[in-house]
Amino acid sequence: MQYSEKVMDHFMNPRNMGTIENASGVGEVGNPQCGDIMRIYLDVDDNQIIKDVKFKTFGCGSAIATSSMATEMIKGKTIKEALELTNKAVAEALDGLPPVKMHCSVLAEQAVKAALIDYAQKNNIVIPELEGYEFDDAHDHGDEEE
Ligand code: FES
Repeated sequence: MQYSEKVMDHFMNPRNMGTIENASGVGEVGNPQCGDIMRIYLDVDDNQIIKDVKFKTFGCGSAIATSSMATEMIKGKTIKEALELTNKAVAEALDGLPPVKMHCSVLAEQAVKAALIDYAQKNNIVIPELEGYEFDDAHDHGDEEE
């Protein structure tokens, strides 16, 4: 299996690994097939800007690389912008993932959304885009048409 240099880099030197105490929102998701677990911590300020983000991933190298890249992509962004993060965008930012590893990037998208849902609940905020959001583990966005 061929991994891009960026995947290897984010796997070997993950960015934003760790936890945030008293995080504004924490999201944990897992893939039942492989058993990997990803947790994302958000520190959101009053202007709904993600000041800091950390992750803990118990999972494969691609899950770690996508966690790392996903945190880089939403750091400093608004909640709205973070909502638009797709697993495909994360995979593309890593110069691609092998097809059998696309599901790992789905965890990154879902963990961010789960953390945002937790943030919304804790702060009594309604994020319309996340109303009724379903964590469909079997769903692989990598196969979707543009
Ligand atoms: Fe499970 Fe990568 S194999 S997330």
